[in-house]
Amino acid sequence: MIKASANVAVICQRINKNVHPKIIMARRLHARRLEGLDKNIWIEFTQLAADYKAVNLGQGFPDFSPPGYIQEAFCKAVSGGCSMHQYTRAFGHPALVKILAKFFGRIVGCEIDPLEDVLVTVGAYQALFCTFQALIDEGDEVIIIEPFFDCYQPMVKMAGGKAVFVPLRPRVGCSEVLSSGDWVLSPEELASKFSSRTKAIVMNTPNNPLGKVYKTEELQVIADLCIKHDVVCISDEVYEWLTYDGAKHVKIASLPGMWERTVTIGSAGKTFSATGWKVGWAIGSGHILKHLQTIHQNSVYHCATAAQEAVAVGFQREYETFGTPESYFLQLPEQLHHKRKKLAKCLESVGLQPIMPEGGYFMIADISSVKSDVDDSVSLDEPCDYRFVKWLIKKKGLATIPVSAFYSSEHCKDFDNYIRFCFVKEDSTLNAAEDILRKWSEGK
Ligand SMILES: Cc1ncc(COP(=O)(O)O)c(C=O)c1O
Repeated sequence: MIKASANVAVICQRINKNVHPKIIMARRLHARRLEGLDKNIWIEFTQLAADYKAVNLGQGFPDFSPPGYIQEAFCKAVSGGCSMHQYTRAFGHPALVKILAKFFGRIVGCEIDPLEDVLVTVGAYQALFCTFQALIDEGDEVIIIEPFFDCYQPMVKMAGGKAVFVPLRPRVGCSEVLSSGDWVLSPEELASKFSSRTKAIVMNTPNNPLGKVYKTEELQVIADLCIKHDVVCISDEVYEWLTYDGAKHVKIASLPGMWERTVTIGSAGKTFSATGWKVGWAIGSGHILKHLQTIHQNSVYHCATAAQEAVAVGFQREYETFGTPESYFLQLPEQLHHKRKKLAKCLESVGLQPIMPEGGYFMIADISSVKSDVDDSVSLDEPCDYRFVKWLIKKKGLATIPVSAFYSSEHCKDFDNYIRFCFVKEDSTLNAAEDILRKWSEGK
């Protein structure tokens, strides 16, 4: 009997060896939940910008260095002995979770437990991933406010959930939309999206790509609906320190009844202009955070120790200098305020109407009056903003991002007249972009 089954195994092995590789590959290799998720705007447009050596106002990262004190902290950590090169606590380096709890406890106005209410992740990206995986079940609905950071939708799908979209729209009766504050949610439309199937809502303030900074009254509308329908709020606040012209960032977790149902997501990359370090976090009540920790311990498990140590030193310094001119959290928005004005002036001068952002890294601009410049050599199946951005990269050497990429397929057609510029760049980069735009407008 034993001999017979051994023979069968040998025969099977031989048969398998004779199977042509193409036949094996013809089987569906990928998991079904990946279907339709293979395209990624950043991969596509970052490659295109590199291929054409374009001046890059596309992807959202600074082309200048982080503040000196945090670079020194990183160097010190790396040369600080064995422990900085080994594993630290899986859910966050002790020094970092302690200062994050202290810092954000002061802002939210409640005691945050560093061990239970904080999870350190590989950038805000992994915090988002852990949140969706931990909280969303097959068939749950997740409301996403548009325009949205593009990864929310695939992450909801990978968790088995269904995304339900609600767009911010230019305010009715607003003759000239000049500021991101003119883009608002309809409270009635938002309320109509909540049902017994709704598990969570995702919002992002200051918003990427629009730059909208939600006012307390606007947050209150969302909070009331979350409480009424017993829904979790996932609040992506990676640009929280970057607000302009007196706009004030308010944490939805600080509104009454919201701490216990909100996961707030942050990024050291955006906070300290060090996007390559990929240190992020999720903060929320321990009864929610423990489920994110379960995903973290069974996937990434742990983040780079030295980078966490440096971010802890950075936050400690900011805690001590908070509200003073030495604080980087005051210096950076001050510096960006000028870059934002410079870019807006340049866009206006070439006929691209900018929407002035109240916060964040980005400015969107209306291309309606200039899009006819695009020649017909690029695919007409694509939305108009995609065609325009590709043309701008290939023919003019300037990289930006199409705004319809931040909308669902249901709504992208209504918002394909805008492109996004990142202004967190050296003045020399902004000058190079300005030269390109000026030459183009003069040649028209
Ligand atoms: C709104 C938003 N959330 C999350 C992220 C991801 O941040 P991180 O680089 O820390 O993963 C980004 C990055 O651009 C973003 O714009």
